[in-house]
Amino acid sequence: MEQPIISDPIAYEKIPTKIYKDPKEASRAVAHEIADLIKQKQKEGKNCVLGLATGSSPKTVYAELIRLHREEGLSFKNVISFNLDEYYPMEPDAIQSYWRFMREQLFNHVDIPKENYFIPDGTLPPNRIAEYCVEYERKIDNLGGLDFQLLGIGGNGHIGFNEPGSLINSKTRLMMLDHSTRAAATMDFSGELTKVPKKAITMGVSKILAAKRVVLLAWGERKAPVIADAVEGSVTEHNPASYLQTHSNAMFVVDEAAASGLKRMKTPWLVEDVEWTSKMVKKAVTNLALTLDKPILKLTNKDYNDNGLSDLLARHGQAYEINIDVFNQLQNTITGWPGGKPNADDTNRPERALPAKKRCIIFSPHPDDDIISMGGTFQRLVDQGHEVHIGYQTSGNIAVADDEALRFIDFVVDYNKQFGISSPEAEKIFEKASKFLKEGKVNEVDIPEVRYVKGLIRQGEAKNTCRFVGIPVENAHFMNLPFYETGTVQKKPLAEEDILTTMELIEKIKPHQIYAAGDLADPHGTHKVCLDAVMEAVRRLAHKNFMKDCWVWLYRGAWAEWDIHEIEMAVPMSPDQVLQKRFGIFKHQSQKDGVVFQGTDSREFWQRAEERNSATAGLYNKLGLAEYEAMEAFVRWKF
Ligand code: F6R
Repeated sequence: MEQPIISDPIAYEKIPTKIYKDPKEASRAVAHEIADLIKQKQKEGKNCVLGLATGSSPKTVYAELIRLHREEGLSFKNVISFNLDEYYPMEPDAIQSYWRFMREQLFNHVDIPKENYFIPDGTLPPNRIAEYCVEYERKIDNLGGLDFQLLGIGGNGHIGFNEPGSLINSKTRLMMLDHSTRAAATMDFSGELTKVPKKAITMGVSKILAAKRVVLLAWGERKAPVIADAVEGSVTEHNPASYLQTHSNAMFVVDEAAASGLKRMKTPWLVEDVEWTSKMVKKAVTNLALTLDKPILKLTNKDYNDNGLSDLLARHGQAYEINIDVFNQLQNTITGWPGGKPNADDTNRPERALPAKKRCIIFSPHPDDDIISMGGTFQRLVDQGHEVHIGYQTSGNIAVADDEALRFIDFVVDYNKQFGISSPEAEKIFEKASKFLKEGKVNEVDIPEVRYVKGLIRQGEAKNTCRFVGIPVENAHFMNLPFYETGTVQKKPLAEEDILTTMELIEKIKPHQIYAAGDLADPHGTHKVCLDAVMEAVRRLAHKNFMKDCWVWLYRGAWAEWDIHEIEMAVPMSPDQVLQKRFGIFKHQSQKDGVVFQGTDSREFWQRAEERNSATAGLYNKLGLAEYEAMEAFVRWKF
């Protein structure tokens, strides 16, 4: 089995933390630990008492446990499990209930007896909850306590639904949910915060800490700050996961993205001996400059020595030389010619000069990611004469408000009336859609008509952006990848047909450049699946001749930016170009003025994009390079 990247205990870290390349590998290791425990208990003729979690993090662990059951005969007959929490109030059959989650993700697929699993009851009358909670804990105690507790972690540090402020000795109880927890859950409640329950019944911190073994999972960049805080900070009620520092047998299992806030990842030279590759030097020097708030060319030997970089000086000479080298590397990433500059020496440029006119595909996970994330570069590629195609990977149809869909169907009916076009079908669709939308659909998926209309609305907006930037509408390719078409936030896993559709487009265009969204923020999210589709398609086509001349550039979505030392191409924008990009984003009217899945960030997409692009430019400037209004950044993926 794959080994974790670093498994030794590390100074600064107060909870043993294992970092794996991706959630799948990590989950496999955790599932095997659970399986071994179950088997050991079987040998001893004992029950195995598990504490289980819901949420996106443990899904891959459950998938592996199911595989072990199906393919390797792992039996769950001796397992007794207690879930951490349940929304309150919540009917067990509701789509968001943790009852339903557990049955769908695990229990229905293994041989655990029905009477062996317990999940807090979201249907109790209020006056019975306190007594129920005491009984829930008593049941666990009577079985000798939890042998193993699996945890996820909230962005605010909650474990179970023990929100910040929960005490270390807190018991199982009804808890008011934090605003941030509810906002993060809106995705599961048709995007509407008001539908998210305000409370939940949660196992208390003390019961979690009483488990003989605790393993906490975290995937994706969004968890990085809270993980770093829990592992390296002090024990505090402000981050309940930090209570695990007091447990003698707890472990965090994280992927690289969730680990990225830890000192051993951010400043590894302070923690252990590192190999001073050119990338590591760039990382250390940019970090030093930003920490000291000094431009790179002003860093001195003393700055290096005082900040844990004497080893670097010893190997690479004077600060003066290292500074110039890193400064030049950064300078060479900046280009106003993302498709390469014709007739120019390209030795130190991010892109090749030839061919002067390139064919490019921009893969856009949703219909607006192209303009939001790389609108300035998109415009430059077009203005500089390249043949630009956009592969819109998904329809984005779940992120359109119902009234918007109705407005468009109504428009079609009115339009037909106005021009004397007889259209009983259009009227029928209007009737059907308005009836469906009026009746409310808390747990339901949109009927196909409504979904198609929503998809068409987004398609129209994307076409509008293409016209605005100046590419023919035929260059907009709506791929409608099947993994996305579930009508719910929950998507299917990437499948062969998604990869084949992606390969087909690449083969048709034979691009010199591919741009793809390289987001790691949410490893289960649409962007990551879309990236996996592109990467797999590229790998499978790599042997073809045209691919030898194809470079892949990754951009970041609306949330996070690449670390400055990772950036290999930075495309600057003038104030006018920033404004132009904003107008391009405005073409996506269904995504303006409060979107369906707003999440915890209330800014509009154009604001997020502008703030991020100006922050990137600001970083370059802080490091002593020229001051630009904004910049879009890319990393090259070498396949
Ligand atoms: C779920 C639970 C929560 C989640 C946490 C992270 O039973 O108790 O603490 O583990 O909110 O959720 P995900 O894994 O969806 O990021």
